[in-house]
Amino acid sequence: MKAAYIQQTGPPDVILYGDLPDPKAKRTECLIKVTDVDVNPIDVYIRSGLIPAKLSFPSILGRDLAGTVLQVGAAVKRFKPGDRVWASNQGADERSGTFSELATVDERWLNMIPQTVSETDIVALSLVGITAHLGLVRKAKLKGGETLFVNGGTGGVGSSVVQMAKILGARVITTAGSDDKVKICRELGADLALNYKTQDVDASIKEFAPKGINVWWESLREPSFERAIPLLAPRGRMIVMAGREARPAFPVGPFYVKDCSLHGLAMFNATPSEQRDAAEDINQWLVEGTLKARIDRTLSLSQAAEAHRLQEESTVGKNGSLAGKIVLKP
Ligand SMILES: NC(=O)c1ccc[n+]([C@@H]2O[C@H](COP(=O)([O-])OP(=O)(O)OC[C@H]3O[C@@H](n4cnc5c(N)ncnc54)[C@H](OP(=O)(O)O)[C@@H]3O)[C@@H](O)[C@H]2O)c1
Repeated sequence: MKAAYIQQTGPPDVILYGDLPDPKAKRTECLIKVTDVDVNPIDVYIRSGLIPAKLSFPSILGRDLAGTVLQVGAAVKRFKPGDRVWASNQGADERSGTFSELATVDERWLNMIPQTVSETDIVALSLVGITAHLGLVRKAKLKGGETLFVNGGTGGVGSSVVQMAKILGARVITTAGSDDKVKICRELGADLALNYKTQDVDASIKEFAPKGINVWWESLREPSFERAIPLLAPRGRMIVMAGREARPAFPVGPFYVKDCSLHGLAMFNATPSEQRDAAEDINQWLVEGTLKARIDRTLSLSQAAEAHRLQEESTVGKNGSLAGKIVLKP
C-alpha cells in the first residue's frame, strides 16, 4: 500500500510517500480502505520532534481516518465488511498511524458514518470534534444560557467549540485574525466575533457579558491567566489544552474567591467508550445539519509533506494561512 511516513523526526521534508507492507487485521481489528485523513497540530509536533514520542520506524503519520471496512478479525462484533467507519486517536500507544491506503483499527475506536454524512466531513470533525465535546460536556459541563469564550473560531478546535456550544444553548464569543475569518465565525453561529488584531477584545467581552464568562476555552499555546481570570464569572470554568511548554503566572486570589475551576484536557486520555459517546453526538449533529465541517482545503495523500508545512506555518508560525482542517485523500 502507499503511505505517508517518516524514518526520522525533522522538518516536513522528512515525510516520505511510498510503498509499505499491507497491514493485517488482528482478532479485534478491522482492515479499512482509507478514503480520507486529516492533519492535526499534534502530527506536526511529533513529526518535527517538538514533542518527544516513542516512535518505531517506519512510522506512519496521522491520527484520524474515514473509510470502508474490507475485512474483520475473528472477534469483531460491531462491524462487517462494507461498513463506512471513522476513527480518531490512532498513531499512539502501539496503534498505527492513518496516513495510508489501508489501516487496521481496533473496533473499540471505530464509529459508523451515518448514511447522509461524507467521509471528508466526518474526518475533518474527528479529533477536533471529540476534543470540543469532551471539554464542553464532560469537563466544563456547559449549560444552556451560559456564555462561552474561545479564541480562534475558525481553527480546528475553535470552529468545533463555537458550533457545539451553540448546539448546547450557550452564548458564544470568539475571535479571529482577519475580517474574513470573523465573518466565518458569525456563519458558524458565534453571537459575538471579534478581530483580535484590530479590536479591543477584552472591552468587548465585558460589554457583551457584564456578569462574566462562564466557560473560558483557552486554545492558545501561550495562555494568559492574568487576562482570563478577571473576565471569568463566579463559578466560571476554564479549559486549558495547549502549550506543553507554557508556564504562565497564575493569579490565585482572584481565581478562588470567585469559586472558579480549571480543567486540563488531552483528548488522547479519553477511553474508547468516552470517545464513542462524543462520536455519537457528532454523528447526530452532522445528520441534523447543526454541526458542519470547517475544511480549509483537500489535498492528495502524496502531498502530506506540503500539508504538514502549511499546518506548521499556520499553527506554530501563526501566519493565519489556514481557516480549518486540511483533509488528505489516499
Ligand atoms: N489537548 C487536546 O486534546 C488538543 C486537541 C486538539 C488540539 N490541541 C491543541 O490546541 C491548539 C489549537 O489546535 P487547532 O487544531 O485548533 O489549531 P489551528 O487550527 O491551527 O487553530 C489555531 C487557532 O488559534 C488562533 N490564534 C492564533 N493566535 C491567536 C491569538 N493571538 N489570539 C487569538 N487567536 C489566535 C488562530 O486564529 P487565526 O487563524 O484567525 O489567526 C487559529 O484559529 C493546538 O496547540 C493543538 O495542538 C489540543
